[in-house]
Formats: sequence, C-alpha cells, structure tokens
Amino acid sequence: MQLSQAQLDAFDNNGFIVLPQLFSKEEIAPLKTELVSLFDNPHPANIAEQNGDAVRTAMALHQRNPVFRRLTGHPRLLEPAQQIAGPTLYVQQVKVNVKAAFVGDLWQWHYDFATHHADDGVPQPHALNLHVFLDDVTEHNGPLYFVPGSHRYGPAPAHHDTTSTSYPLWVVEPARVAQLIDEAGIISATGPAGTGLIFGDLMIHGSPNNMSPWDRAIFSLILNPVDNAQQCFARPDYKHHRDFSPVVALDDDCLLSY
Ligand code: SIN
Ligand code: MN
Repeated sequence: MQLSQAQLDAFDNNGFIVLPQLFSKEEIAPLKTELVSLFDNPHPANIAEQNGDAVRTAMALHQRNPVFRRLTGHPRLLEPAQQIAGPTLYVQQVKVNVKAAFVGDLWQWHYDFATHHADDGVPQPHALNLHVFLDDVTEHNGPLYFVPGSHRYGPAPAHHDTTSTSYPLWVVEPARVAQLIDEAGIISATGPAGTGLIFGDLMIHGSPNNMSPWDRAIFSLILNPVDNAQQCFARPDYKHHRDFSPVVALDDDCLLSY
C-alpha cells in the first residue's frame, strides 16, 4: 500500500497521519481474541498499571503470538513506513497499549526519540510509530493527543519521569508543551477499530486516562532504519529488539488467512 503525495505532505507538515479503515473488522477480530490470553499469561513484557493488575502495555507480541507476528510484517504498515523512512527497517518495538476501561492511566507529554536516544543510544530521530486501533477510539476513552507540527522544532527539553505512571518515560517540560500548544493547539486521533496512525520520533504526543467504561487497546509497531540502530543495550530486549534484520512484507491477506 502506497501513501499518496497529499498524505506524505500532511505527514511532513503535521508530523502524523490517520489512515481510516486501514484494517477490516475481520482482520481486527483475531488480534482482539489473542489479547485475552496474552494479558492473562504472566510475562515480564506485560507491564501493569501503577494501581492494580490491569495490563498497561504488553510488549514483544510478535515473539509471543503468531497473529501479532503477522501484523508486524503487514504490507499496509511496512510499505507506508518504507516510503517515509526508507526501505531497510528493523522491528524496534511491538506492543499493545491497553488503557483499560475506568483504570487505564495517562501517557505524559513526550516524544519517543527522547527515550530512544537517551536510553537506547539511537543516533537520529528516524524511527516511525505505526498504530492500529484494536478498539473504537473516541474522545472519551483516552485517545492520543498530538501537538501538530511539534516535530519541526527538533528535540524538546525533557526529563526522566519514573513516578507518574508505572512506565518510566522521558517527558517534555510543561513550559515547552504549553508554548507549542499555544501556537498549534491539540489534535486527538480518533476512529473506529481498524484505523491506522503513523507518527515520527520527534512528534510530541500523550493521552489522558480512560475514565470511560470502554477499553481502548492500540497496537503499536516501531520501525527504525537499520543504519540508525541502537548503540546502547541497557533496556531489555522487549523494549528495544536486537534483531536488526530488515522486515520483509507478508501478503496483504496474511491476517485473514491465519
Ligand atoms: C498511548 O498509548 O496512549 C501512548 C502511546 C505512545 O506514546 O506511543
Ligand atoms: Mn510515545
């Protein structure tokens, strides 16, 4: 699947693009089914919310489940990523961020490169984050918020926050977030299950807690150019995978033929 020039221009200008109906309900259904046992199975790559047992994020899913392995090589994710970031990309991270009904906690304002650079020694902000909504995502169940155009200013000042949530994260200084939002506002990324979303490593984003009765699971695949691979190996493999072989696209119907 190829992005149009208008979509590529929108990505350059805004720092993110939403891809409506990227996957069908039939393709999403088996992924949702598999999540139940993946969450139930105690695994170091399942990280719970700070208050309670609900899974906040479940990582390394391509190594733990064959359906998620297929999604990780899906041409509707890989080909747009190659248009933007080049042909030779490795799988850096594969997860579902859950945000369970009533208890799913926020993700603070951040950009992914702050963590990729400081924790993993990734040289340049060339990685892409490719999302697929596994639930309907609305204004009410904790959608991602973006500050459009914030990627154009380069790396923003950030600090390592180990206390706000159960997941340590390099977060952007509030004064800088306020300044950028003053200029450009906030856009939330919403849509039915099956919607796709792509954003770059410098894009400032976050999401509020989920106080609704509706779960909000989102698949996230981070692909990084092989020539921009991590230089530092302090974090566990499930947070940044160490197999730098290039991803090869599977068939377009790979989820249906499972
Ligand atoms: C979220 O799942 O709401 C945040 C995802 C991200 O930071 O990539
Ligand atoms: Mn992020």
